[in-house]
Amino acid sequence: MAIDESKLNAFMGKFVHDIGAVMHAATVVVGDQLGLYKALAKGAADVATLAKRTETDERYLLEWLSAQAASGYVTYDPATRHFALTEEQAFALAEEGSPAFVPGAFQIAVAQFKAIPKMASALRTGLGLGWHEHDPSLFHGTERFFRPGYAANLVSSWLPSLDGVEARLKTGAAVADVGCGHGASTIIMAQAYPRSNFTGFDYHAPSIAVARQQAARAGVSDRVRFEVASAKDFPGRDYALVTMFDCLHDMGDPLGASTHVRDVLATDGTWMIVEPFAGDRLEDNLNPVGRVFYAASTFICTPASRSQEVGACLGAQAGEARIRDVAQRGGFARFRRAAQTPFNLVYEARP
Ligand SMILES: C[S@@+](CC[C@H](N)C(=O)[O-])C[C@H]1O[C@@H](n2cnc3c(N)ncnc32)[C@H](O)[C@@H]1O
Repeated sequence: MAIDESKLNAFMGKFVHDIGAVMHAATVVVGDQLGLYKALAKGAADVATLAKRTETDERYLLEWLSAQAASGYVTYDPATRHFALTEEQAFALAEEGSPAFVPGAFQIAVAQFKAIPKMASALRTGLGLGWHEHDPSLFHGTERFFRPGYAANLVSSWLPSLDGVEARLKTGAAVADVGCGHGASTIIMAQAYPRSNFTGFDYHAPSIAVARQQAARAGVSDRVRFEVASAKDFPGRDYALVTMFDCLHDMGDPLGASTHVRDVLATDGTWMIVEPFAGDRLEDNLNPVGRVFYAASTFICTPASRSQEVGACLGAQAGEARIRDVAQRGGFARFRRAAQTPFNLVYEARP
């Protein structure tokens, strides 16, 4: 076997990059948990000052800071021995509400690592692994990672991209947010459209309990309810809008969900489907964003679908053609891509 040394070296370079990122992930989770990035955002300082500011052990903190500097998550000035965050690093790592806030993504990665024994078994047996069977870091990480994208896009561009929906929400409409998880999207919509009423549904009872607390904290409990229900049998009728954020592909029976949405939607209503950005073919998705989604899909989305009845396993990179098919077979005559970001595709389906 002839090894091409330059190709091997290129692969080893990729490997060093990747293993560094993977091991760095654990330091991000700890730093986020202890508020280290938020403390750094208060201003540049040497390690002794930062140890006092963060109430951490100085020697350990130096190692943590060094790791952050080597990863480009913190800046280091050798002349003063001060560590700091640039404006951009602070925006992404220390500002919980910013549209670029990323620490939640690393919590999702923690859940993937914890699921290794279950997935090693599932890959052989073909059995499912339900959303509810994961470590809770998945539920909290998903909320914290997805909310910034919704806060940045949902009210400003995604809802206005749908035909007539924004106007109806402003005057007052009934909305079901299905597969709502911790209710980030439901609460953002309720804050923006106080005359409408919103019901978030999810089959995962612990997520619904958190969503209720979040709604109370956000002061929108008067117009938001959260109920445990599946996408195929959630109650209510004549909804003006049914939304599904990053969850249709997780369902075992997306066609059953589509048919039910068609049944409970008003004849002039809209089904808004937000899905991970993806092309229709595998080769379209062999890029950095597809890499993230395929990894998550292997451990989370595809086994979640397999764990439910039908087990359609659309996967997180389902792409527009498959989602269109689900909508059309459910009875939706009109379907179009209404908006997109580097991470999401937004579809509008209408009867
Ligand atoms: C990736 S999370 C997205 C949560 C939320 N929509 C968000 O964007 O933050 C997928 C959600 O779909 C829910 N889910 C999966 N299958 C479901 C089903 N058949 N019916 C209702 N909810 C479901 C899960 O419990 C989970 O909360």
